[in-house]
Order: sequence, then C-alpha cells, then structure tokens
Amino acid sequence: MNTELIEETWQLLGDRREQFVEEFYQRFFERFPGYRKLFPRKLQVADIEKMLFTAALLADLADDRTDIAPRLRKLGAAHKPFALDGHDLGNFKEVFLEVLAPQLGAQWTPAAEKAWNEAFDDVVIPMMRRGLNGVAAGKHL
Ligand code: HEM
Repeated sequence: MNTELIEETWQLLGDRREQFVEEFYQRFFERFPGYRKLFPRKLQVADIEKMLFTAALLADLADDRTDIAPRLRKLGAAHKPFALDGHDLGNFKEVFLEVLAPQLGAQWTPAAEKAWNEAFDDVVIPMMRRGLNGVAAGKHL
C-alpha cells in the first residue's frame, strides 16, 4: 500500500474536505437507503466526518501496521451492533472512492486509485472484519 500517495491525495482535498463529507453521505444513503436507519435521526455532518477519519488515520500512521491493526479491529467491533458484513464495508469503499475521484480531478491518477483500493482491500476492510467477527474487543476507538 502506497501510504504516501494516500496522504498526498488526502492533503490535496484541502478545503474541499467538507464537500467531500457531504457528498459522501448523500451518495451513501441514496445508494443504500437501508443504512440510513442505523444512524441518528438528526444526522450531523460530524457523524459522517468521523466515519471518514480512517483516511487521516491511515495517512498519519504511514507504514506502521502494528499500530493501525488494533485500532481498526476495535473500529470493526464498534460496528457489530449494525450487523454488517464484508459486503457492507465494500459498499462503503465503493462510495468513498466514487466521491473522492471527481474531487481530485486530474490528481486522481491510476496510482492514487490503486493506493486507495489497496488501503481498503488489504488493510481497512480485512482488519475491520476481524473486529466485526471477533468477540468483544473493547469500546475505545
Ligand atoms: C470501511 C468501512 C467503514 C469505516 C472505516 C467506518 C468508520 C466509522 C467510524 C470511524 C465511526 C465513528 C465511531 C465513533 O466515533 O464511535 C463509525 C460510526 C458508524 N458507522 Fe461506520 N465505518 C465503515 C462502514 C460502515 C458501514 C458500511 C455502515 C453501514 C451503515 C456503518 C455505520 C456506522 C454507524 C451507524 C456509525 C455510528 C454513527 C453515529 O451514531 O454517530 N459504517 N464508522
């Protein structure tokens, strides 16, 4: 996984980050209306922003997977009440990348696309799944 490229593209978003968050949640619920009921009725942009924090987490922790693994497992465990599976995490990724790409325009290069896909496919999703499937892994994220 090319974490430098992840960090770089995330930084490039700059002040479009808020727009990214808003578009993400609009698209997420439009595409998967069944998910809406899992969220607070009065949804704050901040609620969704938290969901997207993982990108920043990945960028910050760079290549240190020993650090990121327990956090992602706990994050997965925190999703247990929503009865999600790997397919749902894939849906999240799909919308995330679909909304990120046009925000970055020409800077959404094939290499950036590959880096983000790998971040989700090789790290975020499998580690969250371990938490989702495992026994109680603590409440703190
Ligand atoms: C790779 C995929 C995902 C990541 C990285 C992710 C990340 C997060 C994070 C960081 C939080 C905040 C936890 C907290 O502050 O306590 C959260 C909350 C939540 N997530 Fe996810 N999530 C993912 C997929 C999903 C999916 C597919 C759903 C399905 C609907 C979902 C539903 C929720 C809900 C309902 C909350 C609680 C929101 C609230 O009450 O404010 N997540 N997620």
